[in-house]
Amino acid sequence: MSKRLYIETLGCAMNEKDSENIIAELTTKENYKTTTDIKKADLIIINTCSVREKPVSKLFSQLGVINKQKKNTAKIGVCGCTASHLGVDIIKAAPYVDFVLGARNVSKITKAIYQKGFVDTDISYDETTYMFDDIGANSYKKKINISIGCDKSCTYCIVPNTRGTEISIPKELILDEISRAVASGAVEVLLLGQNVNNYGKTFSNKLIKSSFVELLRDISKIPKLKRIRFASPHPLHMDDEFIKEFATNDKICKNIHIPLQSGSTKVLKDMRRGYSKEWFVDRCASIKKAVPHSRISTDIIVGFPTETAEDFADTIDVINAVRFDQIFNFKYSPRPNTVAKDMLNIVPDDIASSRLQQVIELHKAQLDEKMSQNIGKEFEVLFEQQKNKDRYVGFSDNGYQIQVISDKNILGNISKVYITNFHRTYLEANIK
Ligand code: SAH
Ligand code: SF4
Ligand code: F3S
Repeated sequence: MSKRLYIETLGCAMNEKDSENIIAELTTKENYKTTTDIKKADLIIINTCSVREKPVSKLFSQLGVINKQKKNTAKIGVCGCTASHLGVDIIKAAPYVDFVLGARNVSKITKAIYQKGFVDTDISYDETTYMFDDIGANSYKKKINISIGCDKSCTYCIVPNTRGTEISIPKELILDEISRAVASGAVEVLLLGQNVNNYGKTFSNKLIKSSFVELLRDISKIPKLKRIRFASPHPLHMDDEFIKEFATNDKICKNIHIPLQSGSTKVLKDMRRGYSKEWFVDRCASIKKAVPHSRISTDIIVGFPTETAEDFADTIDVINAVRFDQIFNFKYSPRPNTVAKDMLNIVPDDIASSRLQQVIELHKAQLDEKMSQNIGKEFEVLFEQQKNKDRYVGFSDNGYQIQVISDKNILGNISKVYITNFHRTYLEANIK
């Protein structure tokens, strides 16, 4: 009889991909099947994020609840970035947790589940040549890791401490994984890396060479693959060659996430981001010039310890200059083992909250204006989710969420639509 696995995932697309890999290992090698009912589970895994403090502080209350709900014999494992950064302390605080497995050690899951008290958070472990099985989750669209870790040292960020240094996955393995995904029905891939466009800088085998642009070109030669997305490019590595490839390669979706973090060159320096306000605005302008219908999303942190009112005004300035299509905005959260944690913080919490609100309000106003301009426009949409009986959700190549009504099942189809209605975060359309 197969056993039941319940898995909960918090965090970024990389953590989601890690969960897919954990499920793949446990279902193909260990006779598990997934369940959404925690009470029926034989194994409960929390794969969680530590980029901000909130999910970490919630972890222990969440574990307490799970411990009460679970079957007597069920095991509990904590995985992901929080596992990497807290390690054995998780078991010290919650002794009923059976194992702790770091974000860079996913392939050891089949070992971890058999050893009570197992802790492995080795951030120098190299998983770049480990081949995980494809479990067929969302068959139209596949997440593909192209590098692990991060080679930067942004002063606010815990990720280099949880995922280790950056190593790229050999190109042949990536092409092979994508070809297999396409053979089983995928039409779109999402290439993943903390700084995805830094691909090729370091391989574990020093003889391998490839750049991100070469990788994109080779991936786009795979017949039947229709769309390529990637997340997230680092602004510093967005050179002209990259922008040219983005603009001219038809398979690359024209929707790009470029994390700004701050609009102030001084704060960017304090954050060690490596670029200036002007460089960022220039890169966005070059993308818009090369691909006028492209859409740009971003991440912004407000309330970084050294952010003055003038610095924040620079962030507002960049929002006005670029007019982002989506902003993920965060209030700065001090993280352990980071340089910024020890900086003198000049931003009281109420000021940080009010700055966050200003970003949200400005962005909302810009979105309302932008979204209304889409009525009557045509887009090509890949439908990937059925919202209810006859409502389907898909995405245009430039990243609009588009909903249509259809009495036929259109999942996996790429169809031309025209826009009939707009909302702040999605558009409604009819199929042509
Ligand atoms: N590698 C990506 C970011 C990964 S973390 C990049 O460099 O763009 C995702 C986002 O979380 C970051 O872009 C940043 O905006 C936010 N973030 C990271 N550390 C944070 C912190 N200490 N406080 C608040 N937000 C943070
Ligand atoms: Fe964190 Fe910076 Fe690395 Fe992104 S580039 S993961 S923000 S250290
Ligand atoms: Fe991702 Fe959170 Fe780790 S954003 S890299 S899961 S800290």
